Parts: sequence; C-alpha cells; structure tokens
Amino acid sequence: MQLQTVQVKPLSESGFFAEITGADLRRIDDEAQFEAIKAAHLAHGVIVVRDQKLTPKEQIAFSKRFGPLAIHVLEEQLLDGYPEILQVSNKTKDGRYVGLPDAGRFWHTDQSYEERPALGSLLYALEIPADGSGDTWFCDMAAAYKALSPAMKTRLDGLRGMHIYNHSHEEFSLSDDQSGHLPGYDHPLVRTHLETGRKALYLGGKLLKYVVGLEEAESDALLAELYAHCDDDAFIYRHKWHQGDLVFWDNRCTMHFAQPYDSQRYTRHMHRTTVMGDRPV
Ligand code: OGA
Ligand code: MN
Repeated sequence: MQLQTVQVKPLSESGFFAEITGADLRRIDDEAQFEAIKAAHLAHGVIVVRDQKLTPKEQIAFSKRFGPLAIHVLEEQLLDGYPEILQVSNKTKDGRYVGLPDAGRFWHTDQSYEERPALGSLLYALEIPADGSGDTWFCDMAAAYKALSPAMKTRLDGLRGMHIYNHSHEEFSLSDDQSGHLPGYDHPLVRTHLETGRKALYLGGKLLKYVVGLEEAESDALLAELYAHCDDDAFIYRHKWHQGDLVFWDNRCTMHFAQPYDSQRYTRHMHRTTVMGDRPV
C-alpha cells in the first residue's frame, strides 16, 4: 500500500510557520512522515498539522518521538490519567475550570523559568470558539535577532535574563509548594539553536523579570526596546485555529501570545504536550 505523502506549505512570506496536510499522526511508525514533520518543524519554527483525530494516548505517543515529555507544575490542570497532558481549557467540572483558561496571554516561551525550558509544545485543538476568536500569535525570534543592528547584537552578547513564574492566573495562584520548586533561572538573551545553529532572541514577557547585572531602569529600557523590535509584522504570524489543528512550536526560536475570547459564551478546549529541552546556550 502506498502511504499518503505529507505536504508542507509555508503560510508567511518569510517562510515562518508552515501548514502540513496529508498527515495522520496516529501513524506512529511511519518514518517518512515523521522525518518530513521534523524537518518542517526545524525549517519553519512553527507548524500546524491539520485535520487530526487524536486520543490523549496518541498525542503523547507522537510527541514523545521528539524527546521526553515534561509534566507541567500545574498539577490540577493536567488530564486525569495522562499527566503529560496540560489542559488549556475553559470547560468546567464541579464548579471549577478543568484546565488553564488564560494560558499565555502575553508574549512568552514555555517553561522559560526552568533550568531546561521546553524544546517544543504541541497544542491540539479539540474545540474552538464558534466566532473564530482565540487566535494564537507567533513571533519568529531568529528573524528578529537577525534584523537587530550590529551594535545591538554586540550589546546583547553575554547578557542574561532572569525568568521567574510568580504571576497569578484568572482563578488561582501557584501554591507555596509549587513556587518552592520554581526559584527561576537566568538564561542568555540570545541563544543558539543546537539543531539548526541559528541564533535567536530569547525573551519571556512578564516571566522575564530583568537583565542580570543592569540597573533596573537600564534593564527595563533594554527589554522594552527588544519587545518593540519584535512587535513587527515581518516576524509575526497570527494563527486562526480550526478544530483538529495540532500546532507544534519550537520554543528555542519563537515566542507566542494567546489572544482573548469570550469565555462566557464559547468553549475553547485544547490538550498540550511539552517536549523537554536543553539548557539554553
Ligand atoms: C500554551 C499557550 C496559547 C493559546 O499552551 O503554552 O501559551 O493560544 N497557549 O492557548
Ligand atoms: Mn505558552
């Protein structure tokens, strides 16, 4: 039997963010499909694999092909029986949200506050708001780095940023125990991608508290300048979700930003798996 071949189509002019059709991620032993998806992920930074029908077990099995999975610190938002799956959801059960209804409402990369932040995250859309809201924006941080002035590149060389997860969510804050496990970490502001060799800016929105060794005002001004630089349509792709999309982003060279939706009227229900990464260098 001839296996279906996968098509890869970049959705932005620069080649950032690609759409993959003709894939079925349940075909866990299809090496040609896996290689095509892995290559697209590295080449385009973010991919959306369309029209998937995945059980939690199947999503976990596919995700694991990219490396060991991380278990998120928010244990109450994990899927029962499948701790590898973080629920990004405004569904409720027994009067409380089953998952995070407000994940990532600012530019960030996942788990930047850990020693080994996430390599990549795979977010699978089971239900999306009927009015088409709740987009996710992605920023190409390798392109953003490349476009910096030579003077700024020199200035950033060797600088590190302190990342700490200590903000509150809509309905809860981290417990003392959770916070106790998360002292925060400093990582370089510019990191080199171990697989592609490309340099990328590595920022973190409100998770990134300050630049190590700079006065507060100078640190704030530098970070503001870098965010303003990244806030450019040349680097940003705005993803509109379809049910069945599995979006897989590379946290080593992108940032993302969840847009709000009317959570009183609409359900947005997603399953996220997270591949562990290396310490940024
Ligand atoms: C995440 C996240 C974005 C979204 O799951 O890490 O930032 O649009 N989600 O839900
Ligand atoms: Mn996120």
